[in-house]
Formats: sequence, C-alpha cells, structure tokens
Amino acid sequence: MMFDNITFYKSVFSLKEIPGKSLPQLILCGRSNVGKSSFINSLFTRKNLAKTSSTPGKTRSINFYNVDDLFFIVDLPGFGYAKISIEEREKWGKLASKYISTSDQIKHAFHIVDIRHDPTSLDLTLNEWLNHAGIQFTVILNKADKLKQSELNKAINSVQKFFPGNIPGSSLFIYSAVKGTGKKEVRKKIAGLFY
Ligand code: GTP
Ligand code: MG
Repeated sequence: MMFDNITFYKSVFSLKEIPGKSLPQLILCGRSNVGKSSFINSLFTRKNLAKTSSTPGKTRSINFYNVDDLFFIVDLPGFGYAKISIEEREKWGKLASKYISTSDQIKHAFHIVDIRHDPTSLDLTLNEWLNHAGIQFTVILNKADKLKQSELNKAINSVQKFFPGNIPGSSLFIYSAVKGTGKKEVRKKIAGLFY
C-alpha cells in the first residue's frame, strides 16, 4: 500500500552526509514555524515522527525519511527565524542553498507557507533557488484551519500572486496539518510523482 511504511533514515548537518544516488527526494522547505514537520506527521498520520514545536527554529538539521523504499521525504530547517544567531542563520542558508543547487536527487519541492501571511523576501529567495536549480515545486498553504471559509479565497488569491505559475488543485493546495484538510489531494499529488 502507498505511504504505509515511513521510517526515519537520518539527520545530516553537512552536504557530504546527504544520501547520494539511492532514492529520489521530495523536499519540504519554507520559513520557520510554517508547519513543515507537522506536515509530515499529518500526511502519514504519525503523531511524533517529526519533531515539532511552537517555538520557531525547532528543526536544525536536514532530516531524511524513507517512504515505502521509494523516495525520501526531506524535512529542512526553516529559515528566517530571527532569534537564532546570524552565524547559524548563514550556516543554514549555505547548507540549504548548496543542497538545493547541487543535489541531482531532488525530484520535487513542497514550498510551505502560512496561509495567513503573504510570502516574504526569504520565500522569494527560496523560490529563486528552486527555479535556478530547475526543481519543480508545489505550494502548500498550511494552517487553513486558522481562517474562516470566507477568508480562505482572499488569502489564496493574495498568495497566488507570488506564485503565478502554480495552479490550485495541481501545484498549489490548501492544507491543515491540524484538521487534515487537503491531505487526500496532496497524497494524490505525491502518488503521481513517485508511484
Ligand atoms: P521549524 O522546524 O522551526 O522550521 O518549524 P516547522 O515549519 O517545522 O513548524 P512545526 O511543524 O514545528 O510547527 C510550528 C507550529 O505550528 C507548531 O506549534 C504546530 O503545532 C503549529 N502548526 C503546524 N501546522 C499547523 C496547522 O495546520 N494548523 C495550526 N493551527 N497549527 C499548525
Ligand atoms: Mg520543523
């Protein structure tokens, strides 16, 4: 069955530890605290597989999870968290940008944003890295449970201006890691990529 078998594979802190030619990779990227780690737990219905925290900056390493021995889902540390040191932020930026620009194993990226806020300049930088590396990406508008139905469409329209090439239902999805909104659609998207 699909998505039945997800296991933690490893945490890496430097480029040379990144698994080479083994399985294709789906990376989760975005600002700190948007819910990247929660996304993994909700998608696979595993409460504490990926460590989450209400304090931004929880994930500090690049974490690889093996899914069905078919692909890795990769939880990246969030960027833009002001309270970590400048050195650490730069270190993260370098590791993430080098990984994104040099890995030939990244098949697709999920760029996760908080649906309540417009993307920031850091999101646009990330977007440039992905485009430059030629990595196809899907935008996940997480925390949809925080908005009323009447506010959702407005928020989608607003965020979509930043990602004009992304089409709702195919490369842009509303999601809630808390309520499970969008889970079915996103799983279908992943199935189309890897199964
Ligand atoms: P970093 O590891 O710092 O980059 O953060 P992250 O993007 O992995 O975020 P994480 O999954 O740790 O979630 C951050 C906070 O947002 C936690 O308190 C989560 O419970 C909360 N959260 C995540 N997804 C949702 C969601 O869909 N709805 C709501 N209401 N809260 C969410
Ligand atoms: Mg995290």
